[in-house]
Amino acid sequence: MKIAVFGAGSIGAYVGGSLLAAGGDVVFIGRATVRERIARHGLVLTDLRGKKIAIVASDVHFEPDAAALAGADLILVTVKSADTASAAVSIRNHAKPGTLVISLQNGVGNIDALRLPDCGVLGGMVPFNVVQLPDGRFHRGTEGELMVQASPALARWSPLFAAAGLPLIQRADFVEVQWGKLLLNLNNPVNALSGLPLKAQLAQRSYRRCLALLMDEALSVLRAAGISPAKIARVAPGVLPTVMRLPDPLFRLLAGAMLRIDPEARSSMWEDLQAGRRTEIDYLNGAVLKLARSLGRDAPANRRVVDLIRAAETGDRKSLDGNALYRALTM
Ligand SMILES: NC(=O)c1ccc[n+]([C@@H]2O[C@H](COP(=O)([O-])OP(=O)(O)OC[C@H]3O[C@@H](n4cnc5c(N)ncnc54)[C@H](OP(=O)(O)O)[C@@H]3O)[C@@H](O)[C@H]2O)c1
Repeated sequence: MKIAVFGAGSIGAYVGGSLLAAGGDVVFIGRATVRERIARHGLVLTDLRGKKIAIVASDVHFEPDAAALAGADLILVTVKSADTASAAVSIRNHAKPGTLVISLQNGVGNIDALRLPDCGVLGGMVPFNVVQLPDGRFHRGTEGELMVQASPALARWSPLFAAAGLPLIQRADFVEVQWGKLLLNLNNPVNALSGLPLKAQLAQRSYRRCLALLMDEALSVLRAAGISPAKIARVAPGVLPTVMRLPDPLFRLLAGAMLRIDPEARSSMWEDLQAGRRTEIDYLNGAVLKLARSLGRDAPANRRVVDLIRAAETGDRKSLDGNALYRALTM
């Protein structure tokens, strides 16, 4: 029962480390920077409730090469969406037939990009946020449970995930789950452009108003496409924009649970911009735009936020306050 984590970054290290700590046989496939980080600090996982798991570096099997996929019975794909196609090629080249592959990525196109003739591929949805902190920790800053496309193939893996504190919730309506998560991920560029931690950004109505605009547009496109996004947050998708537009005191009163976020948590899009990496914007707000265009429509606010992030990726990296961002999305 060997597990390979393909793309050991924030999510891969947190999920794989949790499974390792629960007794799983895990190999991490990732970059030298992450390997060095683990060599220096060990694999240290913390969460917003104060949980801490520290695994000594010598107990962490870390490989730079995808050839390490060969022995795996389960592969967790945790690369960013732009790397999924090349991850699929590596899996095809190295994995043994019959291996189960679970994508733990955001976005709605990764399962198709991973279609592998000899492996079963399931979609997974990670509802919580993980950041890599300067002191070497992989820190989980929000709550929520892993959801996976329902399949009998999960029976042998579910007990280990449960023991790791990551119970797998099986969902038959996984397309709706993915779109429900994507609606929440529309905040990623808002957060990245704010330059603020998630909690501080979401506490301000001026930023939530931007998010509400992006969500309204996405909900309208999804309605036209006949897709009903699943409820992932505490609030049903259809009322999310209304809740986001509430004045701050009312938002805190009625939706305070949405602010139960570690003050350190940031979106991975913010991390990508800081590191000068390409973001997942094309797979998040860009997916709304793509769906809109397939229906002969536009999604102007999502189109504009895609453009803003593309500009930030190429060096135009300024923080925008909520009102300036709203103007940029509606001009
Ligand atoms: N972080 C979160 O809080 C969070 C929450 C929910 C869902 N997600 C989703 O989870 C997925 C992973 O996000 P993340 O934040 O964990 O990303 P991440 O920190 O960038 O981790 C991915 C890692 O995989 C590496 N990688 C890419 N291709 C590789 C290859 N062929 N061989 C070895 N390593 C490779 C990347 O290296 P390079 O950077 O050098 O390419 C990076 O270190 C994304 O779809 C994201 O949207 C993230």
